[in-house]
Amino acid sequence: MSKISEKLRYVGVNDLKKTAFEGMWPLPYGVSYNSYLILDGKTALIDTAEADFATEYMDNIRKELGDRKVDYLIVNHMEPDHSSLMKVIRETWPEVTIVANAKTVPMIKGYYGICDNVHIVKEGDSISLGASSLTFHMTPMVHWPETMMTYFDEEKTLFSGDAFGTFGALEGGVTDSVVRLHGSDVPTGNAFHAFADEMRRYYSNIVGKYGQTVQAALKKLSGLEISRICSTHGPVWEKNIPEVVSCYDRLSRYEGEKGVCIAYASMYGNTAKAAESLASELEKRGVPYAVHDLCTEHVSYAYRDAFKYDTLVVGAPTYNNDIFPPAYNFMYGIAARLMKNRRFAAFGSFTWAGASVKLLNGMASGLGFELLSDGLSFPQAFTPEKCDMGALADTIASQVTE
Ligand SMILES: Cc1cc2nc3c(=O)[nH]c(=O)nc-3n(C[C@H](O)[C@H](O)[C@H](O)COP(=O)(O)O)c2cc1C
Ligand SMILES: [Fe+2]
Ligand SMILES: [Fe+2]
Repeated sequence: MSKISEKLRYVGVNDLKKTAFEGMWPLPYGVSYNSYLILDGKTALIDTAEADFATEYMDNIRKELGDRKVDYLIVNHMEPDHSSLMKVIRETWPEVTIVANAKTVPMIKGYYGICDNVHIVKEGDSISLGASSLTFHMTPMVHWPETMMTYFDEEKTLFSGDAFGTFGALEGGVTDSVVRLHGSDVPTGNAFHAFADEMRRYYSNIVGKYGQTVQAALKKLSGLEISRICSTHGPVWEKNIPEVVSCYDRLSRYEGEKGVCIAYASMYGNTAKAAESLASELEKRGVPYAVHDLCTEHVSYAYRDAFKYDTLVVGAPTYNNDIFPPAYNFMYGIAARLMKNRRFAAFGSFTWAGASVKLLNGMASGLGFELLSDGLSFPQAFTPEKCDMGALADTIASQVTE
């Protein structure tokens, strides 16, 4: 499982215990914290792993190192899921040189109190490991200010940090030709297919706001010949590089596929019935869609499909002359992710004076979304006469098949 090539070893760990990544994102298939060891004349460790896994992680490294020591620790990213074990590495091999960029240095000091033997690198700098060398590319705000990527020239391998990462623990191996998504029955050999939904959910929830800087990074990397991508989460990509890069490119351009994300919240089921009606009208017209209940499901799944599809339809009843809070929160998150290029419609039930649909339209217009209709605000119970989802589905279908 650990040998990627003669010189490159996987020393990361699977986390199947944590229920919420960053304290908030559900992990139905777990997550991996990937770290890599290069064995050349010198040895280099790329990032570390999460604090809880110190014993397993250090065992993984020792197994590959034998009686050698770690010469360099490359710090591509300081989020603690990758930097937590830096102090253990320094205590174990006191002479290890930490390689980091200028923005990383104060973070290393602030988190771990480490100041000495830190080698500062900037764009294009290299270090030699003997026969091979590592070159550093600054990719700020993917998704922290200090994020950088490391290129291992001899094997055309990019250590990309969180970029191209995905939720989901690794089973059966680590490279995309042998790995399986833990807990999934997608057979070996279909890694991109198996991980695509969790890749979109990881991107949309964690990196989603930084489309512009991800685009800048992709542009910068386009000059590199890449035959392997080693991200900090999920599979090592060799076979599926075109699919993975195109997925990240599309997501960071906010370019949706043809289809509809229906996200709704409902207290008593009236707005829910309207959502169901829209789903069945889209089904009849052969339009792809996904429905998310913002009251019972974690919002990360709705964000995933809001990034996936080019049309967003949001349902919320009126609540104290405002948008029912779960739907307001969802829209707030859409705005916080600087979402662009979406067609939009709103719907929702009220009892005495509807306000939610107008307010949702206002939030959508503020983001530059194209409103497909004035919205469907209806009093009390849902009926097709009061809330004509067939007409909305016709409008959507005519645009989707354009
Ligand atoms: C706490 C609360 C506040 C509400 N505020 C309003 C309101 O300001 N204006 C209004 O027309 N209806 C208001 N309603 C009524 C709901 O909008 C109405 O019951 C609607 O049908 C609920 O839709 P649902 O079945 O999809 O939850 C309120 C209901 C509750 C429980
Ligand atoms: Fe991160
Ligand atoms: Fe991470």
